[in-house]
Amino acid sequence: MSTQLFARKPPEWVVRDIKTNPLKKVLSRWNLTTMGVGAIIGAGIFVMTGLAAREYAGPALAISFVIAGLGCSFAALCYAEFASIYPVEGSAYSYSYATIGELFAWIIGWDLILEYSMAASTVAVGWSGYFGKLLGLLHIHLPLWLTNDLHTARALLTEASANGTISTLQQNYSSLAIPEVFGLPLAVNLPAIIIALVVTAIITIGVKETAGTNLWLVAIKVSVVLFVIIAGIFFIDTANWSPFIPARGLNGDGVMAFGFAGIAAGAAYIFFAYIGFDAVATQAAESENPTKDLPFAIIASLVICTVLYIAISLVVTGMVNYTLLDKAAPVAAAFMGRGLNFAVWIISIAAVAGLTSVLLVMTMGQTRILMAMSKDGLLPAKIFGYVHPKLKTPSRSSILIGTLIALVAGFTPIDTIAKLVNIGTLLAFVLVCISVWRLRHTQPDLPRPFRVRALPLVAILGIVFNFGMMLSLEWENWLRLLIWLFIGLLVYFIYSRKHSVLRKHLADASERS
Ligand code: ALA
Repeated sequence: MSTQLFARKPPEWVVRDIKTNPLKKVLSRWNLTTMGVGAIIGAGIFVMTGLAAREYAGPALAISFVIAGLGCSFAALCYAEFASIYPVEGSAYSYSYATIGELFAWIIGWDLILEYSMAASTVAVGWSGYFGKLLGLLHIHLPLWLTNDLHTARALLTEASANGTISTLQQNYSSLAIPEVFGLPLAVNLPAIIIALVVTAIITIGVKETAGTNLWLVAIKVSVVLFVIIAGIFFIDTANWSPFIPARGLNGDGVMAFGFAGIAAGAAYIFFAYIGFDAVATQAAESENPTKDLPFAIIASLVICTVLYIAISLVVTGMVNYTLLDKAAPVAAAFMGRGLNFAVWIISIAAVAGLTSVLLVMTMGQTRILMAMSKDGLLPAKIFGYVHPKLKTPSRSSILIGTLIALVAGFTPIDTIAKLVNIGTLLAFVLVCISVWRLRHTQPDLPRPFRVRALPLVAILGIVFNFGMMLSLEWENWLRLLIWLFIGLLVYFIYSRKHSVLRKHLADASERS
């Protein structure tokens, strides 16, 4: 049994998967690159930058972005080599199945659910926040209970009561009452649910439509990011960068921060901003020329976003002293603080567009990974492997996953889940770095259209940087990750192991011999 747990998928099976994939091959290298940028720029930069600078790193957040960017770059190179060898939609899951065996593949696949679905839920909630901001600019206000989950709604009320800011809260919502249904309090983030369902409809209709929609959204998003950087430069006060690395000590919220540990903690937190470049790899089956275009798009999208992130973090911390940065909408607030209210409009519209494109790519990427897992028998193929005959999309899986993302976004306090997304994704990156290194030893002669030059150095650096960021996250996140993996192992031993196509094949072969 133990050997079967670590059985590796034969390369000829992977080749067969590539040849028999029914999805339409319509994506060019620039479609793929824009999808990468679409998946990357989102809640991380538009929402999380404020808290990261204020609570962890100060102006040195730019260094946090460099560290997280380096960790991602090493992992991206490893992803690129894998994607060129195995251009299949399962991404890290498929790579590890072919290299370190079924059990690890399952763990990565299960882990990627955290990355894709939970990140999508997080982003849907971020979207709802910026959407509310836009409605507010139009003097439209919704009730508190219809725009927040119960935990968040109660937390907002408690905080406002404690700070004596209930009247400000009243200005933002048409009502602060939390209704009861059958004696139970009810609050739901309806805009988050609606956007998750709209995105589900788009990805169910078709992949070309998704790429087309994404192109527009990415164009808006990148233009506004460039606008923020260029316009923001004129409002930088270099005094705000001094000290660039605040000394270790208590931050404004009474938590230990700053210094090098603060930079590392900031990197582990804003790592969320980089998540998504690997989503490009999940589009392998729909790519026109995957062995060349996937490595290009993975690396290009990451490089573009790294440069933008470093620039934007310098601009924002240069415009506003880090101790005063807004936690919910730092980029918009930095311009509002300078009286540039028109910029708030532009930035909020871009955030809504930008977060929509992240949702599109993450939701779509999730269905592709689940499809790969179902082909191998590890998940039910009737749901996750079903491709709609006319639309040529995995319609059942899209609807199921989209609904799940919507429900989590609508009813769950999202902060905790966002950190879980980071630790889960970092683990997947570490495993990808290990796998690519191992594959060089086990199958040195495999054709590698894209070959990482300085291996094992790149893989080792990828492991050190990404594992280092995992260590910078609080222990609670480790505990949550372990619980998630434990549930995954239960599913594996109860369902997947019994239905594994590879396992059945190996059992038949050993009976015959
Ligand atoms: N990188 C994506 C974001 O920041 C997940 O929203």
